[in-house]
Amino acid sequence: MCGIVGYIGFREAYPIIIKGLQRLEYRGYDSAGIALYDDGQIKISKTKGKVSDLKERATKENTKNGSLGIGHTRWATHGVPNDINSHPHVSNSGDLVIIHNGIIENYATIKEELINRGYTFQSDTDTEVLINLIEDVKKQEGVKLGKAVQIALTQVVGAYAIAVIDRSKPDEIVAARLGSPLAIGVGEEEFFVASDASPFIEYTNNAIYLEDGEMGIIRLGKKVKIRKINDDSLVDPYVQELQLSLEQIGKGGYDHFMLKEIYEQPKAIIDTYRGRLLADQGIIKMSGIEDNIEKFLNANRIIVIACGTSWHAGLVSEYIFEEFSRIPVEVEYASEFRYRNPVIYENDVVIAISQSGETADTLAAIKLAKEKGAFVFGVCNVVGSSIARETHAGAYTHAGPEIGVASTKAFTTQITILTLIALRLAKAKGTMSHSDYHYHLQELELIPGKIEQSLDFNKHIKDISVRYQNASNFLYLGRGFNFPVALEGALKLKEISYIHAEGYPAAEMKHGPIALIDEQMPVVVIATKKGHYDKVVSNIQEIKSRKGKIIGIVTEGDEIVKGIADYVIEVPETLESLTPLLTTIPLQLLSYHIAVMRGCNVDQPRNLAKSVTVE
Ligand code: G6P
Repeated sequence: MCGIVGYIGFREAYPIIIKGLQRLEYRGYDSAGIALYDDGQIKISKTKGKVSDLKERATKENTKNGSLGIGHTRWATHGVPNDINSHPHVSNSGDLVIIHNGIIENYATIKEELINRGYTFQSDTDTEVLINLIEDVKKQEGVKLGKAVQIALTQVVGAYAIAVIDRSKPDEIVAARLGSPLAIGVGEEEFFVASDASPFIEYTNNAIYLEDGEMGIIRLGKKVKIRKINDDSLVDPYVQELQLSLEQIGKGGYDHFMLKEIYEQPKAIIDTYRGRLLADQGIIKMSGIEDNIEKFLNANRIIVIACGTSWHAGLVSEYIFEEFSRIPVEVEYASEFRYRNPVIYENDVVIAISQSGETADTLAAIKLAKEKGAFVFGVCNVVGSSIARETHAGAYTHAGPEIGVASTKAFTTQITILTLIALRLAKAKGTMSHSDYHYHLQELELIPGKIEQSLDFNKHIKDISVRYQNASNFLYLGRGFNFPVALEGALKLKEISYIHAEGYPAAEMKHGPIALIDEQMPVVVIATKKGHYDKVVSNIQEIKSRKGKIIGIVTEGDEIVKGIADYVIEVPETLESLTPLLTTIPLQLLSYHIAVMRGCNVDQPRNLAKSVTVE
């Protein structure tokens, strides 16, 4: 979704903003723009396309000078991606300039009122309406920029993270948020505004994360002033020291962030269970769980809400929670849950899963669950994110920044956390034998090493990818714990290679997908030993007899599937419930290599956003 960067200080703003926008490219976008205060004027360059196109445009138009500026990457919601609809947007007088991430839902009504008062509009965007509303308030009320932004925001319905500058105030940026993330970087004699901390991390480790409904007046030489938009009260700014490093947000020698993140999984999983999993002592320690253990133990039901890959991790957890801790689980798409008046009982526990912690539908579903009295536990990766703050308690996955749009290490670390929780509850409830419990803890601790070992199959997977890179369709089959992995494998392929793919429970194949199978159809079957192995082998036979091409994901040493399948990829042996942590890896690599071979933009696939901050 849209990315925001702003700078005010003593350096040239242009290179900081451009580099910042490049860091936010992962969010997904279709156009980009920049506004710089230069010698009494605000100069704007903007264009459909990538930040590289913006650089060309800005060079041609000489929009490069100044120490105050704002920049934007736009993911179109209102109006097609074109130069005019790109941000920044400017008010009718030419004095006020805005960048915006979000949606102003009542923009049409406001626009009509403004048109009646003589305002004109160049673009189709809701954002141009907002900046003119701010200008109108400023004129009518005779107030300064900060006050005008505040009054205007009380009149809009929707979501926003905005940064506004005023030609007559070259020492100030006004920022505000509701529902979309916004961080203010606090340096020595300089400030930054951004959708996340990555654009300013090399300049400062100090950041203020605006809360929903807050605005910041950022003025050179002064402390940042934070106000609540609705009641005008002042809030003490909380300046956090960030743990993020520049190295973490680079590609580290890999061709793509996605590949780097696939290879980071052993470390990411260790970081997830570090200090929490004490296998030798048979202990799982997670403060978010310990502090709320009664809520979990009294839960009649766990409802998991999430979107995308996080929803798939939720589906894996359904199998895990029910198997280990005997708690019934329902897994819901957040976007459906929020609009269907769900029945929530007093003793239900809601677990919200989100890598970014900013997904708009998940956030809205959490708010609804809270209104209905549920206890909501968050599983997030991004520290300090909206979902982490909105939930009653939670656990971070600590996977480190995930930048590739296709989620990889977030998925396996989410499964790791959820497994830890389920095991902790199993111990407390006595739903697992003592020996089984210990065995699971030991095996979980071995998973990173087993992933490391299995990453050696990368070359083999590349060879398989050569063979199937031109396929038009793929089918992914799995059963039990690996059914959600089949869904996730299909999603990865769709997202980055644009090949149509479907995931299915292996046994359901006979109720539809089998009709699709012919010699053109590659079928990826997860057929690890244990877990209904024999039944899956029968499914493989059924595919074979219809001439489908079989890629089997099997346990090391498997000879049976090897004898039937066109290709097999072997993963180390582990407990059935932990196999998703291993079987996912080859599917990530398969989609990665196929996408690279098809010339696709792996890290920024078309139309997709890393963090979907609008519904
Ligand atoms: C987008 C991303 C997916 C992600 C989903 C949920 O669609 O492209 O990779 O799984 O949002 O995001 P979240 O941050 O809530 O896990």
